[in-house]
Amino acid sequence: MNFEDQVVLITGAGSKMGIGRETARQVSKRGASVVLADIDENGLESAFDEINQYNNGKTMTIKLDVTNKDEVDKSVKQIIERFGEIDILVNNAGTSRPTRILDIPEEEWDLIFNINMKGIFFLTQAVLPYMKEANYGRIVNLSSVSGKRGGGIFGGSHYSASKAAVTGFSKAVAREMAEFGITCNTVAPGLVGGTNITDGLMTTEKETSIKEGIPVGRVGKVEDIAYSIAFLASTGASYITGEELDINGGSHID
Ligand SMILES: NC(=O)c1ccc[n+]([C@@H]2O[C@H](COP(=O)([O-])OP(=O)(O)OC[C@H]3O[C@@H](n4cnc5c(N)ncnc54)[C@H](O)[C@@H]3O)[C@@H](O)[C@H]2O)c1
Repeated sequence: MNFEDQVVLITGAGSKMGIGRETARQVSKRGASVVLADIDENGLESAFDEINQYNNGKTMTIKLDVTNKDEVDKSVKQIIERFGEIDILVNNAGTSRPTRILDIPEEEWDLIFNINMKGIFFLTQAVLPYMKEANYGRIVNLSSVSGKRGGGIFGGSHYSASKAAVTGFSKAVAREMAEFGITCNTVAPGLVGGTNITDGLMTTEKETSIKEGIPVGRVGKVEDIAYSIAFLASTGASYITGEELDINGGSHID
């Protein structure tokens, strides 16, 4: 895979141990210009210092709350001013809460849906006109195994519902945009170790019991997910669209 001359926008890339940052590593090491977007300013600073070394200064950071449409629209304009194009959009920013159905307050439901789904809608809508003009684009959205099987280990029913929504949205965008050379796919990771989203809830006992349900015998690594994201974002993946790629070590096979 080669991303020379490609501009990649990754949301939620601030988190050092997260999937977005690892995706930034993988595409920048293969030549991409990378825009790191996140609500977390400190995370962005360290992300810039790291990623900018890999792609000879072709890195840009944008402090962005994906739930704020004005911020999203302004950010996309800034990226176009700097790089002239956005070839790849990775909608990775997301959040989770382990709250059980009877205890979910309305504000928490809205928080999960606003970040995990509405943010993807805003980013996609803002970027698509430029991709259409270029007659080329790759969109990769982060879904989750919990959107398929119901219930996540660290996410409640709102999380599952938001991730299932991401998949439906992505399939519809894939159909609408195929004629413009734009693909839209999702990746559905199983549990990935070490990221912030599990919020310190992983214990050794929990990890042991989780591993028993994973035929491959280990929890996922950010590298596993980022490599598949990079593949779906590559030029060679032009005939794959509307697909949801399971990356879960066999813990859920359908
Ligand atoms: N870690 C897992 O086990 C797992 C499994 C399946 C799916 N996923 C999905 O992968 C994606 C990345 O997760 P991760 O594990 O790397 O999590 P993470 O918490 O390490 O990273 C998420 C990033 O999103 C950012 N973010 C949160 N709200 C934001 C907002 N409103 N605007 C902009 N940025 C915002 C955070 O600051 C953080 O940098 C998420 O969509 C998550 O749901 C993760």
